[in-house]
Amino acid sequence: MPQSPKEAFQAEARALRLRLEDAGRRAKNASALEDLRLEFLGRRSGALSRLMAGLASLPAEDRPEAGRLVNALKADVEDALRKLEEGFRTVEKRPPAVDLTLPGLQRPAGCPHPVRVFLKQIEAIFVSLGFSVEEGPEVETDYYNFEALNFPLHHPARDDWDTLYLDGGLLLRTHTSPVQVRVMEKQKPPIRMINPGRVYRKETPDPTHLPMFYQVEGLLVDEGVTFAHLKGTLEYFLRRLFSEKLKIRFRPSFFPFTEPSAEVDIECLVCRGKDSACRVCAGTGWKEILGAGMVDPQVLKNVNIDPEKYSGWAFGMGIERMAMFAYQIPDMRPFYENDMRFIRQFRNK
Ligand code: PHE
Repeated sequence: MPQSPKEAFQAEARALRLRLEDAGRRAKNASALEDLRLEFLGRRSGALSRLMAGLASLPAEDRPEAGRLVNALKADVEDALRKLEEGFRTVEKRPPAVDLTLPGLQRPAGCPHPVRVFLKQIEAIFVSLGFSVEEGPEVETDYYNFEALNFPLHHPARDDWDTLYLDGGLLLRTHTSPVQVRVMEKQKPPIRMINPGRVYRKETPDPTHLPMFYQVEGLLVDEGVTFAHLKGTLEYFLRRLFSEKLKIRFRPSFFPFTEPSAEVDIECLVCRGKDSACRVCAGTGWKEILGAGMVDPQVLKNVNIDPEKYSGWAFGMGIERMAMFAYQIPDMRPFYENDMRFIRQFRNK
């Protein structure tokens, strides 16, 4: 039996109500809700507007009832949307799923490495004397590591530096002295600089040797610079670093890039020369801590600084050795074994 216009209208209203229930169940968040609102209540193409437009085609006597049906449906849609909205709002207000009363993640406090602590103290002393702190590459060429420092190719002095060679004519710098050359190439005198950094040598680790360690290089170039300035500066530095009454001695030595050259010893802080069986100084009462000397005129010529007008001095010292001595650490290896129980002991030094 064909539907009357009134029955068709009622069927459409029923279908809309079912769609509303279904859509309400599927709406999961506030933006889905907004889509629903448009779908049902949208002014132009919303389902209710379209139903309302259908009223006009009904016979006059059916219109009042159909009108009530549309109004009831509209009220139900609005009601359903309001309920959904409230539901979402309470979900959003729910406390976060984190228990704020639980203890937080523990981040163990770090501490500076003893080599770093020591380097900082050394830097502070030289900076207070007007020295700049420079840097240079750890991968070097033969020229900077040796040749410009007056080590000719095949010179036997090269054997004193157990060099780790890389491909392509490069090497890992065996000392920080190449930075002297790099700085003198860039800057004209007066030059006053120190250069802390890593150096590498082909060594098997043992209590007093490591294949990687730190050095601090120092360089001063100006007019009228003498060995007396070198001696005075190093004595001042070492006494500030260790102790005011520290005994220091200079022994003649040899480096291809300094002339004259010296090695500097300080008195053994462990036995003060009173224990002939001392493990630290082997009973000598002295500990060698750095190499130094007047910059060789040939090195100045290599960087186009006139040795007739300028002179300079340089020194280089091993940092782990000095730290071992200052903190009385008998073995170098723990510096780089990452045992925090070792590292932490020096945080307040
Ligand atoms: N570069 C030298 C070494 O590694 C130390 C040194 C530096 C000596 C500067 C003289 C001048 O042993």
